[in-house]
Amino acid sequence: MSFNFDRVIDRRNTGSLKWNRYKDGDVIPMWVADMDFQAPLPILEALHKRVEHGIFGYAVPPDELVEIVVGRMKAKYQWKVDPSWIVWLPGLVPALNVVCRAFGDDWDEVLTFTPVYPPFLSAPQFSRKQLKAVPLRREGDLFTFDAERLEKEVSPRSRVLLLCNPHNPVGRRYSREEIKRIAEICLEHNVILCSDEIHCDLLLDEEDHIPTATLSSEICANTITLMAPSKTFNIPGLNCAFAVIPDEGLRTEFINTRQGVVPDTNALGYAGCLAAYRECEEWRIALIDYLRGNRDFVYGFVNEQIPRLSMDNVEATYLAWIDCRRLGMRNPTLFFESAGVGLSDGKHFQGRGWVRLNFGCPRSVLVEALERMKRAVTKLGNFG
Ligand SMILES: Cc1ncc(COP(=O)(O)O)c(C=O)c1O
Repeated sequence: MSFNFDRVIDRRNTGSLKWNRYKDGDVIPMWVADMDFQAPLPILEALHKRVEHGIFGYAVPPDELVEIVVGRMKAKYQWKVDPSWIVWLPGLVPALNVVCRAFGDDWDEVLTFTPVYPPFLSAPQFSRKQLKAVPLRREGDLFTFDAERLEKEVSPRSRVLLLCNPHNPVGRRYSREEIKRIAEICLEHNVILCSDEIHCDLLLDEEDHIPTATLSSEICANTITLMAPSKTFNIPGLNCAFAVIPDEGLRTEFINTRQGVVPDTNALGYAGCLAAYRECEEWRIALIDYLRGNRDFVYGFVNEQIPRLSMDNVEATYLAWIDCRRLGMRNPTLFFESAGVGLSDGKHFQGRGWVRLNFGCPRSVLVEALERMKRAVTKLGNFG
């Protein structure tokens, strides 16, 4: 079957967070992480069917959905997940916050590697915890964990480490060795590992995703894994996600903390998630192929055609993390916005001088955005 990712769909006036920001101007929105593609047909059909039923009472996850999630974990990662380990959620940002709230005393520490998706940085504070940011380090032309620095930063008050793999915004898919080292440091120091793997079905190269929890039984018992179909199948607004928490004590604490605060998922979310995992693998493979083309295009264009900008290979996600520091500007995001491209500002990720570009859009839109960025930078002149 063929899928048309080139089709440009007008999202203005559809109540879209991404497109509403620039509704009055000629700015291409490439910021928040949703894609400009229609969700796969089986999801649309499942939603239609559920809507036709016409009753939208409180919902529980369909048994088939739980079976499918368990089956997927087994097939993809040889991970035997017990159905009782799965906790359904309306999103993973709430899960990051519940984790920070559930464990430890006030002002205990939550560790994370930066730059990182902003809710990793705000969740500790919202939960009366102290954020300890450990900067990623450069190894060759990629970012990696700084295990030595983590060992220095970890203290008896460290309770949780929030890990992002694949990593938003730097686009890394970490190797077994990289994750293992971090997971072992957590075990040694009694730090619970919360592994956000929301981008795990968006790997753009040949390698497979490795869930942290599959590294050993001890690591599994110490890990809270967060996953969702939302990024991959472009249904984040349907609010369906889940945590896998093998350890009963951690799971009970998590569930007690979310009680009365974090709502349950709704019927449409469950229906969309079920269709995504049951019927959309062919669409996903085609999507990856298209995103890989976009990734290669952005990578070549930014590194070869826009003076002073550079980026790494994006191994996973549809997000490019672009180094603009050589522009010497305080606010490159504002500069590109006035040139007609709306990017995410790196400073919110603890990456001042960088921008994040969402290339989950038709190629023609991407080409136009990059041309705008190139024209704006070239106009600055003086690139001797
Ligand atoms: C690493 C990561 N976690 C969580 C989310 C958002 O999760 P949700 O929409 O389920 O709250 C995102 C969205 O971009 C993300 O990149």
